[in-house]
Amino acid sequence: MVTSDPIQHLAPVWARYTDIVAERGEGAYIISTEGRRYLDFTCGIGVTNTGHCHPKVVAAAQEQLGKLIHGQINILYHKPVLKLVEALLPEMPDGLDTFFFANSGAEAIEGALKLARAATGREGVISFQGSFHGRTTGAVALTNSKARYRLHAGQLSGAAQVTAYPYCLHCPRRGSDEGCCQQRLPDLRELFASRMPPEAIAAILVEPVLGEGGYVVPPAWFMPALRALCDEYGILLIADEVQSGFGRTGRMFAVEHTRTTPDIMVMAKGLGSGLPISAIAAPREIMSKWTPGSHGGTYGANAVACAAATATVQVIREEGLVENAASMGKLLLEGLRSMQADHPGLVDVRGLGLMVAAEFAHADGSPDGKRAKHILHTCVENGLLILTCGPHDNVLRLIPPLIVSEDQVRDGLAILRTAMDASY
Ligand SMILES: Cc1ncc(COP(=O)(O)O)c(C=O)c1O
Repeated sequence: MVTSDPIQHLAPVWARYTDIVAERGEGAYIISTEGRRYLDFTCGIGVTNTGHCHPKVVAAAQEQLGKLIHGQINILYHKPVLKLVEALLPEMPDGLDTFFFANSGAEAIEGALKLARAATGREGVISFQGSFHGRTTGAVALTNSKARYRLHAGQLSGAAQVTAYPYCLHCPRRGSDEGCCQQRLPDLRELFASRMPPEAIAAILVEPVLGEGGYVVPPAWFMPALRALCDEYGILLIADEVQSGFGRTGRMFAVEHTRTTPDIMVMAKGLGSGLPISAIAAPREIMSKWTPGSHGGTYGANAVACAAATATVQVIREEGLVENAASMGKLLLEGLRSMQADHPGLVDVRGLGLMVAAEFAHADGSPDGKRAKHILHTCVENGLLILTCGPHDNVLRLIPPLIVSEDQVRDGLAILRTAMDASY
């Protein structure tokens, strides 16, 4: 059946919560075909860190379009990929000096898993409760943020195991004198003892800040403890910085908050300002164990995407966007925290930089997804785009672009306050 409405011909599998048809993007705003301006605190799910259509990113992509669009990386090198390597190298955690480029976060995760297996000769991979690593077959087996993502995925690999992420808000020992019960990673040690011996584990895959699973910032001990455990057993530590990377948390990468260096780092989203590009970084010694030809892809390291990515990294540095993310993030957190007194259902406000969350619960402590969604829809009606996250969708997530101004943060907070007041 053919209808006159092209929307009816888009696959319904794309779950969506607005009917906005975007005409263009401009900095922190999306402008609809009806001419309505929306303050975009979603950034296309953490992608447009430099704002929509940053002039320097646009100019770099346009210039490259006229020179070479596709120079297949198995056939030749091209200047944009070499320039991107030069731009990324100074930003990388110690020793991560060799890159593989792909097109999406999930694709890079798949590659990182293969790399870890190639480098260790082991099969197993551990991920965390609440983690999101993508929807392709290997990645979804390690994704534990919503059961829905596993529908129709077929048989998932038994080499994937899951353990607890330190979600302190929901820890039964929160505030007790005994201190933090997870510090020695007892669940992970139990997993080693009962489900998968450490000698069979190639990698631990972790988001340094849990994203889709609820924007959970782990306690300071967590990443160093994982690092020590990996070193003890010869397991590789893979940091999934797909959402937290490129200035989002007020540092170039979230691992910088943790004094931990991963063995492999996966990047995407903010890297290309919207052009599809992702990357895996690892020390040359690890990358050299990956058999040539055993991984690749037609479009990886696309010339236009590489040019946009180089411009993105330059803009983030030259315009002080990492610093702006840190200070605007504080303003957003303060504004949300000031609403907690009037809104007891707003049980937690947390975040790092501009990766900010507001969690809602009923009086009995059970998750209140209904309220979070109500607020989200009122915000859209009032011109602010935000998202929810967490398995119960009871966490509002706010991901403004890193170029966001103080006035725009205050505008967003005003709309949020109105929506919260209207949600009772
Ligand atoms: C932490 C993390 N890893 C991986 C992915 C998958 O990325 P993509 O949607 O580009 O496949 C996402 C996407 O939201 C993510 O947030």
